[in-house]
Amino acid sequence: MKIVSTEFIKSATRPGNYPESDLPEIAFAGRSNVGKSSLINVLVNRKSLVRTSSTPGRTQLINFFDINGTFTLVDLPGYGFAKVPLAVKKQWGPMMRTYLETRENLRGVVFILDIRRDVRDEDIQMIDWLEEFGVPTIPVVTKIDKIPRSKRAQQLKQIVAATGLPGDSFTLFSAHTREGAEDIWELIESALEEDEN
Ligand code: GTP
Ligand code: MG
Repeated sequence: MKIVSTEFIKSATRPGNYPESDLPEIAFAGRSNVGKSSLINVLVNRKSLVRTSSTPGRTQLINFFDINGTFTLVDLPGYGFAKVPLAVKKQWGPMMRTYLETRENLRGVVFILDIRRDVRDEDIQMIDWLEEFGVPTIPVVTKIDKIPRSKRAQQLKQIVAATGLPGDSFTLFSAHTREGAEDIWELIESALEEDEN
């Protein structure tokens, strides 16, 4: 994918505030701190189009980014961070579910898991919604630079078992080495090309 331009469009929490656009859209979902924003920055080859942080749970809004004037990438709010206030936690479910259910131009979700972490209830909730609303899912296991190569297969096996997603559907990724970025782009491009149904 040749990136000509990238631009922050806006943040939103509810459909009335989503950008009005017919352009195809790909969203990124996963726990707080899993590396959603870092993955987007690597894909679009910008150091900080999307704010990343060492303080998990910072991004509580749905953030929309225009790419090349031809499609939209969406950084979804992370979930599962203990220190987030209860009121914010309660908003997360309806906010996420509504986006996945109602966003008509949504063509796929890049669903991100940390290779070192156990799959949690909120991850399973995400998978259930993606299935329920028929959103094509691109599973990514990230931060693979954090564990030795020899341990990756074993970790992936656990993740596959816990999620029930097909083992060969996962792409291994590192924002540090950029390993996996090309494969993820190819999957995103195919999802963008799929016709609306
Ligand atoms: P929230 O917006 O809070 O939900 O987090 P996020 O999912 O957007 O994570 P973010 O991209 O901000 O990354 C969180 C931390 O993990 C940062 O300190 C990143 O530098 C680090 N990180 C992200 N991806 C990788 C990776 O592939 N390898 C390593 N080693 N660190 C990573
Ligand atoms: Mg983020």
